[in-house]
Amino acid sequence: MSYLDELFSVAGKTALVTGAATGIGRMAAAALVRAGASVMIASRKGEDCIRVAGELNGLGAAGRAEGFAGDVSSETGIAALVAEVKARTDRLHVLVNNAGVSWGAPLEDFPYHAWAKVFGVNVTAVFHLTRELLPLLDAAASDADPARVINLGSVMGTQPLADDAYSYTASKAAVHHLTRTLAIEFAARRITVNAFAPGPFQSRMTAFATATEEQARHVGRHVPLRRIGTPDDIAGATLYLCSRAGSYVTGAILPIDGGQSVQHGLTLFKE
Ligand SMILES: NC(=O)c1ccc[n+]([C@@H]2O[C@H](COP(=O)([O-])OP(=O)(O)OC[C@H]3O[C@@H](n4cnc5c(N)ncnc54)[C@H](OP(=O)(O)O)[C@@H]3O)[C@@H](O)[C@H]2O)c1
Repeated sequence: MSYLDELFSVAGKTALVTGAATGIGRMAAAALVRAGASVMIASRKGEDCIRVAGELNGLGAAGRAEGFAGDVSSETGIAALVAEVKARTDRLHVLVNNAGVSWGAPLEDFPYHAWAKVFGVNVTAVFHLTRELLPLLDAAASDADPARVINLGSVMGTQPLADDAYSYTASKAAVHHLTRTLAIEFAARRITVNAFAPGPFQSRMTAFATATEEQARHVGRHVPLRRIGTPDDIAGATLYLCSRAGSYVTGAILPIDGGQSVQHGLTLFKE
């Protein structure tokens, strides 16, 4: 085995990535498949997950993908998803809580129900899906190779920027805090819990602002590194946190944002 394989391979691991038929979830799932994992992808549109799993299997990579329907927006949906996962595996090395929704509206019109809807998928589901899958994570966990949970936070959960998405930004701050509290609680079980805090990436959620190359360039101009994120940016972070390389990291809120989390408009004494 090469040095890089020893450090970054996820060969033989089993993973579940929610919401992985599109966007960031698909980027993470593709990375895991390419690095040798067996990856389940699930979201409401089961047909899309089956199709995307087929596309990932067509890469000719070392790993495999399997797609099916799963809706994390309710207790019964989570129970059904957990049953699907348990029918396929008795251990889970990696859980990526990626499924997420947003809602944008001006302050004056922001609807009441857009809080419960967004928090239900972005926060409540992260807690309950993880809790329900603990027996499978426990079964995969060891001192040398902990099981891994990655939650999708956001730079919008770090910086006080609502951009008309009031419940979304609050939900992502909640994801960051939940990540840290679960990290300390699960350490004794040999399960690491970390979060990605991405900046702007092309996805279905951000298509309104990033779908075309021109739009993507425009958004990228506001990022300190002057570009939006790419699939490799998610792949690198995913493989780091899920492989031997990341086995001593827990409770981290990893900025994958081209510097947005350290960006500010303050000046003091220098012009
Ligand atoms: N793109 C960015 O710039 C960015 C930045 C920071 C953080 N994030 C976070 O990254 C994660 C992925 O978002 P994305 O940007 O890649 O957007 P996306 O393309 O819209 O992906 C979201 C995924 O979540 C799934 N989903 C939504 N509701 C679900 C439910 N009830 N049950 C199961 N799956 C559900 C969707 O699939 P179905 O419709 O089939 O259910 C979809 O595939 C989210 O948590 C988001 O907040 C994104």
